[in-house]
Amino acid sequence: ELNCHLYLADDYSALSRRAAELFAEEARTAVAKRGRFLVLLSGGETPRHCYELLSRKPLRALVPWHAAEIFWGDERFVPPGDPRNNARMAREAFLDHVPLSEGQIHPIPFRNSAHESAEQYQAQLLEFFAGAPPRFDLALLGLGDNGHTASLFPGTPVLDEKYRWVSEVALEDGQQRITLTVPVLNQSATVLFLVSGEGKAQVLHEVLEGTPNPQRLPAQLIRPEHGKLIWLADREAARMLTLQ
Ligand code: 6PG
Repeated sequence: ELNCHLYLADDYSALSRRAAELFAEEARTAVAKRGRFLVLLSGGETPRHCYELLSRKPLRALVPWHAAEIFWGDERFVPPGDPRNNARMAREAFLDHVPLSEGQIHPIPFRNSAHESAEQYQAQLLEFFAGAPPRFDLALLGLGDNGHTASLFPGTPVLDEKYRWVSEVALEDGQQRITLTVPVLNQSATVLFLVSGEGKAQVLHEVLEGTPNPQRLPAQLIRPEHGKLIWLADREAARMLTLQ
C-alpha cells in the first residue's frame, strides 16, 4: 500500500517553512541511520524560498551539511551559467551560502547533447552508488500546471522508461531537458511535492482525486515503492481538493 500524506500550509511562506523543516528533519534522520543524506533537488520557482530559508538561521544550523550529497531530479539542457539552469538557481538560493564542498554537489552535466548529458549523469550515479540502483533519502519535486513533474512531461516516451536511470526529453516547443526516470524516483525513501498557488489548484485536484491517467498526468507515476510520499500544498493550491 502507498504511504501517502497530504500536508496543508496557509500560504507560500508557511509552505516554504514547513518544507525547509521537513528537509532538515529528513537530513538528520538519514544521517543518524546511514551516516549521510542524499537529496534530489527540483527546479522551478516553488522551492526557491524553502532553499533560502535553509541557508539562514535557524534552519541552517539544523542541517548536517557535512554529510549531505546534493543531486538533481532534472535539468534544462543549457550551460551551467544560464539563468534557466536548475543547479544555478539552487546554488544562488542556498548551496553557495552553506558549508558544502564542491565535491558534495552533483549537478547534471552539460555535454554536447541532452542524450550525452543524460548518459554522463547516469555514469556518475552508477559510480556514486557503486552499481546499486540509486536510493535518495529525499526527492523534492514540483508539479507543473500540465501535470508534469521533474521533466516527465505528458505523452513523452520517457514516461515508459524501465531501465535507464536518466533520460533526455525533447519538448514540443523545442526545449531539451534531462530527467531522472520514474523507476529511480520511486526508489526514494521520501518524496516531497511542493505545490503552491491558485494556478495549481485544478491540476492538483486531478492528480490526487481524478481518474488515473499518467500519460496525461505524469505526477501520478510517482509512487515510492518502499518509502513515503508527501504532498505539501498551500491553501490556494488545495482549493479544489475534496479530501482535505
Ligand atoms: C523544472 C522542474 C519542474 C518544476 C515544475 C513546477 O525544472 O522546472 O523540476 O518539474 O518543478 O515545472 O514548477 P514551478 O515550481 O515553477 O511551478
